[in-house]
Amino acid sequence: MEKYYPDSGVELSEFTAKNYDKVMNIASFGMYKKFIYRAISDMDIKQNDKILDLGCGTGRNIKLMNNYVSDDSLLVGLDISEDMEKQFNENIKGFSNIKFYNKRIDKPFTMDEKFDKVFISFVIHGFPHEVRSTIIKNAYDSLKPGGVFNILDFAEFDMDKMPFHHRFIFKKIECKYAFDFIKRDWKHILKNDWGFDGFKEKFYFKNYVRLLSAEKK
Ligand SMILES: C[S@@+](CC[C@H](N)C(=O)[O-])C[C@H]1O[C@@H](n2cnc3c(N)ncnc32)[C@H](O)[C@@H]1O
Repeated sequence: MEKYYPDSGVELSEFTAKNYDKVMNIASFGMYKKFIYRAISDMDIKQNDKILDLGCGTGRNIKLMNNYVSDDSLLVGLDISEDMEKQFNENIKGFSNIKFYNKRIDKPFTMDEKFDKVFISFVIHGFPHEVRSTIIKNAYDSLKPGGVFNILDFAEFDMDKMPFHHRFIFKKIECKYAFDFIKRDWKHILKNDWGFDGFKEKFYFKNYVRLLSAEKK
């Protein structure tokens, strides 16, 4: 895949994209499956929710969300990777309420539908900060009033205070944009720049990962 941001770690190599779910299972020492199951259950999904997943990857997350919704709901995944698109379509075969669009989330877009929830998981940290604003605007514009933006990603923490072995791994596997992402006050940004409110947080992996839910007023 052509890289738009050479320093980004979320624009994946062909090998990583093709083996993404396996790579995550191995990198998390087998804990990913349990973690993502818990995080999705923490999203408080309602039966008729329409959900938009930005940078949806293989469809593993949307398939889990599908356990909580009825056939009348709508689950839409957006991604730019053709390797992800193939796996997504394979994973969601037979579910007519789930759709995939090959679309860049770092450029302004408008969806035909408005959504109850927008979800973005381990994607937004991997962009330059000014580009993150476009992604947040896309999420904001895609939500109904009262809809919830769910960001599942690194929490805010001080890398220098991490135990050595955690810091070593984080520095080895993450890109420079992630080091910037963890320093920012995301509730402040979402509230002051975008007017989101009603924040809820759930933490995982020794508090290094957070599901931050923010309501569009
Ligand atoms: C680290 S993976 C996360 C995948 C998925 N959200 C998950 O949690 O399993 C990052 C994903 O973002 C996608 N991506 C990267 N840049 C993108 C862009 N500009 N527009 C849409 N998707 C993008 C990649 O193709 C990849 O599927």
